[in-house]
Amino acid sequence: MRLLLLLFLLLHLHIHLSSAAAAGHIPELRGLLSIKSSLVLDPVSEQPPLAGWNSSVSHCLWSGVTCSPRTGHVTALDLSGLNISCPIPPQISSLSALRYLNLSNNLFNESFPAQLAVLKILQVLDLYNNNMSGPLPLVVTQMPALRHLHLGGNFFNGGIPPEYGQWKFLEYLAVSGNELSGAIPPEIGNLTKLKELYVGYYNSYEGGLPLQIGNLSELVRLDAASCGLSGEIP
Ligand SMILES: *[C@@H]1O[C@H](CO)[C@@H](O)[C@H](O)[C@H]1NC(C)=O
Ligand SMILES: *[C@@H]1O[C@H](CO)[C@@H](O)[C@H](O)[C@H]1NC(C)=O
Ligand SMILES: *[C@@H]1O[C@H](CO)[C@@H](O)[C@H](O)[C@H]1NC(C)=O
Ligand SMILES: *[C@@H]1O[C@H](CO)[C@@H](O)[C@H](O)[C@H]1NC(C)=O
Ligand SMILES: *[C@@H]1O[C@H](CO)[C@@H](O)[C@H](O)[C@H]1NC(C)=O
Ligand SMILES: *[C@@H]1O[C@H](CO)[C@@H](O)[C@H](O)[C@H]1NC(C)=O
Ligand SMILES: *[C@@H]1O[C@H](CO)[C@@H](O)[C@H](O)[C@H]1NC(C)=O
Repeated sequence: MRLLLLLFLLLHLHIHLSSAAAAGHIPELRGLLSIKSSLVLDPVSEQPPLAGWNSSVSHCLWSGVTCSPRTGHVTALDLSGLNISCPIPPQISSLSALRYLNLSNNLFNESFPAQLAVLKILQVLDLYNNNMSGPLPLVVTQMPALRHLHLGGNFFNGGIPPEYGQWKFLEYLAVSGNELSGAIPPEIGNLTKLKELYVGYYNSYEGGLPLQIGNLSELVRLDAASCGLSGEIP
């Protein structure tokens, strides 16, 4: 009888724990489904993007989705190369444990959604080769953990914001291949961990490279080709 009671208690505890764990992930599942439904049909292939994102398997097994084996939270989202044409879905903000977000090689347009400022542990943001326009986003400066930021190959215009000198861990910064202008801010010299900096192509800056770039002691790659710069390399 005691044994039965113990078994019953254990079973009860187990059910309780596993439903609590699943409940924690329902907002992420909803977020992913909401991202899927916000995407527009690819006009070329006429395939709905992410048809495999359905309830036949756990969302952690969907293509482009990676969950932490420990916590079960979504830690990486890769939507690269799907010909997606629309603004970036603000619903990505429901994936608050995200560390890696790759949206490259699509036709994401308009500006970067302010809602994504909640992604405080995001380390990698790749927006390369999309159709984004307007000024370079300031929202990304509210993501303090960034190590890799690729905003190249879009139609961003205006200057590089001085706030882009604030990241403590940034190792890779690319704003190349846009329609940027103005002076490269000296604050970029404050990115002490920076290893790679890409500012060239299609951009057209005034003034030379700021002297402070010479302070980037970890820098191993600097590409400032064909963007109107002249003068000495510090
Ligand atoms: C659901 O996703 C699986 C792959 O995860 C795919 O094989 C299947 O065709 C999908 N079903 C529908 C109705 O799209
Ligand atoms: C993003 O995905 C593309 C493939 O579409 C890949 O080439 C690129 O390296 C990825 N970016 C990062 C930072 O992993
Ligand atoms: C994306 O569109 C291009 C043409 O615009 C097409 O050649 C390519 O196959 C498409 N890629 C995918 C993954 O559908
Ligand atoms: C962004 O893409 C969507 C879907 O293709 C389109 O309806 C919208 O007009 C585009 N916005 C801009 C500013 O081009
Ligand atoms: C991408 O954006 C550019 C300029 O904003 C526009 O001329 C072009 O039509 C857009 N391409 C697509 C496929 O939406
Ligand atoms: C960053 O650099 C600028 C100009 O080089 C300097 O005036 C400023 O004090 C620096 N900010 C920080 C937080 O180090
Ligand atoms: C480089 O860094 C040193 C030490 O942080 C500082 O004293 C110096 O003013 C900086 N040089 C430039 C050009 O910013």
